[in-house]
Amino acid sequence: MRMAVLGWIQSIPGLRTGAKKRSCSHCSQHGTRLKCSIERLHVPVLLGEVLELYEGRRFEVFVDGTIGAGGHASTLLSSCDIDLYIGIDQDETALAIASERLSKYGAKVKLVQSNFRDLERVLSQFEIAQGEVDGILLDVGISSMQIDTADRGFSFMADGPLDMRMNRTNGLSVAEVVNSFGVEELARIFQEYGEDSQSRRMAKSVVAFRETKQI
Ligand SMILES: C[S@@+](CC[C@H](N)C(=O)[O-])C[C@H]1O[C@@H](n2cnc3c(N)ncnc32)[C@H](O)[C@@H]1O
Repeated sequence: MRMAVLGWIQSIPGLRTGAKKRSCSHCSQHGTRLKCSIERLHVPVLLGEVLELYEGRRFEVFVDGTIGAGGHASTLLSSCDIDLYIGIDQDETALAIASERLSKYGAKVKLVQSNFRDLERVLSQFEIAQGEVDGILLDVGISSMQIDTADRGFSFMADGPLDMRMNRTNGLSVAEVVNSFGVEELARIFQEYGEDSQSRRMAKSVVAFRETKQI
């Protein structure tokens, strides 16, 4: 099996991208300027390197564990011989864009809203065993689309609700966490995921602040 794992930092437009920026091929089709501008912003990272690894190859089952807006997928589908392309993403907005973008491939493409850690369960939906997968792509991390859309809550540049979920149908938003978790739990999160040495002090400040005002 061939597998490519790409790093998140390269998802930011202009930062070490392996591909040239392309203009959106869908503008004349869907007519919504918002979607076009979102798509134009998203440049698949290391496209050249991914093609170097996969171009011209044959795959019975290819899994794209982070399909996003389908940038890598559309290139791979047009440059490889693939029977079944399974695209997984946690983000329903990204999947909707990928679905439109890849619609010409029909039943060859299956899109699933899921976490790639549940790959075995996703594959079982299609009665496929893990050993039958012969190519995997993981472009891990956050997408520029998620960062740039203010109401997703990931941006430092634009104001928006404190959401920060990749899958908005699941789990707690950051607003729910910072307004309800106790000091111990917040400190653990700041320490574990933020590796912040001041985690306890920050957690206490959050709890003190919310006594006067909802965050
Ligand atoms: C950099 S983008 C992928 C872009 C995609 N390769 C393209 O060409 O359009 C990363 C995507 O991974 C998704 N993601 C991050 N962690 C995930 C996980 N554990 N399971 C599934 N999807 C995940 C995000 O929602 C985001 O859409």
